[in-house]
Amino acid sequence: MQGLFIALEGPDGAGKSTQIQLLQEYLEKKGYEIIVTREPGGTVISEAVRQIILNKEYREMSEKTELLLYAAARAQLVEEIIRPALKAGKAVICDRFLESSVVYQGIARGLGVDTVYAVNDFALEGLRPQLTILLDLDAEEGLRRKKNQAELDRMEAEGLEFHQRVAEGYRFLADREKERIMRISATLPKEEIHAKIVLAIEERILNRYQI
Ligand code: TMP
Repeated sequence: MQGLFIALEGPDGAGKSTQIQLLQEYLEKKGYEIIVTREPGGTVISEAVRQIILNKEYREMSEKTELLLYAAARAQLVEEIIRPALKAGKAVICDRFLESSVVYQGIARGLGVDTVYAVNDFALEGLRPQLTILLDLDAEEGLRRKKNQAELDRMEAEGLEFHQRVAEGYRFLADREKERIMRISATLPKEEIHAKIVLAIEERILNRYQI
């Protein structure tokens, strides 16, 4: 089997976890061995970096440090987990990947999209998901959904304007890169979102592999 690499993206509160679970079940039925992982995280080292990045106490963290820490966590995940899994023909489903850095650090923090790609080119050596699913949600609704959950982390605690730039940034990217990024409204019923994801994966990837 050929490896399969799918990333799910979207603002905080978009419902990625539910869709990842449904996607995992679908790909298992297709006969794939699945690795579900998340960013930042997914390895011992990357989870340790996550603890630093999201720690609310670290309010003084510079934007550059933030970008580099996300890239460091990603480099470790790619080398330790993702590349070996793809080489072994497994399906990797990643909760967030490069596009999160492009949107949160490049656009919402204002470091610039080109800077984010440059840093991550070094970290990833060109690796990209075959398909990125964007669960599109307005910032207000995302924050409302999150507020019902436990304590907010350092990124979630950013104000509404920051999260509006995130939501807009995702839309900008998805419009610019329609081939690679598929945008689906996160306000649709979960079964409908799942059906759209399955259709996209079948049309764009699996049919080409003849699975
Ligand atoms: P999570 O809450 O989806 O686990 O993600 C952690 C937070 O980190 C979330 O607010 C999005 C943010 N983030 C970035 O700012 N840049 C990145 O590259 C990644 C992967 C996540």
